[in-house]
Amino acid sequence: MRHLMSPLDFTVEELDTLLDLAGDIEKNPDKYAHACDGKKLATCFYEPSTRTRLSFEAAMLNLGGSVLGFASADSSSAAKGESISDTIRVISCYADICAMRHPKEGAALVASQKSKIPVINAGDGGHQHPTQTLTDLLTIRSLKGRLNDLTIGLCGDLKFGRTVHSLINALIRYDNVKFVLISPEELRLPDYIREDVLVANGVEFKEMERLEDAMGELDVLYMTRVQRERFFNEEDYVRLKDFYILTKEKMELARPDMLVLHPLPRVNEISVEVDDDPRAAYFKQAQYGVYVRMALILTLLEAAKEDEHA
Ligand code: CP
Repeated sequence: MRHLMSPLDFTVEELDTLLDLAGDIEKNPDKYAHACDGKKLATCFYEPSTRTRLSFEAAMLNLGGSVLGFASADSSSAAKGESISDTIRVISCYADICAMRHPKEGAALVASQKSKIPVINAGDGGHQHPTQTLTDLLTIRSLKGRLNDLTIGLCGDLKFGRTVHSLINALIRYDNVKFVLISPEELRLPDYIREDVLVANGVEFKEMERLEDAMGELDVLYMTRVQRERFFNEEDYVRLKDFYILTKEKMELARPDMLVLHPLPRVNEISVEVDDDPRAAYFKQAQYGVYVRMALILTLLEAAKEDEHA
């Protein structure tokens, strides 16, 4: 059974195929309108979400399938103490594929080990968010025309931001991708990404605190929210939450073709006045999330069918 826990579960070639499929879906939506007739997607979300859950549901509905699920741990039997392993065994009886978000690192992996249907990690704690990464890759490839020869600035909460961790893991597989890591000291990238991924793979990167110092050299600026839910105390969060605010003035320092991405939700880190800048691509990014999740559902269901017939 093929699942998606990390962007590295797909080879670069498989990723290219998936992104090509997403591109075809964008251009020819009618061709796919009945591709999942009779199929059901379960969305099991133990943590809040707007984009990931609803874009998964939109994706399955666009494919002609149906959706079922829960949007919080409180509205599932997790509130009565049911384990993830038991829950996924039951969901396997009701649905053909499952997208799961959970506050604990590794939760989706535990589920996948007991599941009879493909499980997609829709975010596990501060660990990974692979479908956001697929969305980011599709957005960059569609709007920049390439995934190599890029200087990517990652700004904000690089410690707890799981989208950043997943994106770095995915992008280091492309040629000549450099990173500028922009964060306050306390929110620097964890060692297990800096040392074990960037240094270990000989990837060029530098760390800095001032966003202004990085702007002029970036092809893509990836802004992130300070992850309030992962802080141990409110005082630290309040001190750090407005450390970066991208404004019109700062955008004047950037290249004319630099893309601004953000996985969203945004709090204060991008001023709303930037939204009208043609380089602001974060709402387009949310739209690309639907196409790539459609492509992912089709790919994993096809793999499950092949397994069945093997
Ligand atoms: N980008 C993202 O994961 O957004 P949600 O938390 O709203 O799903």
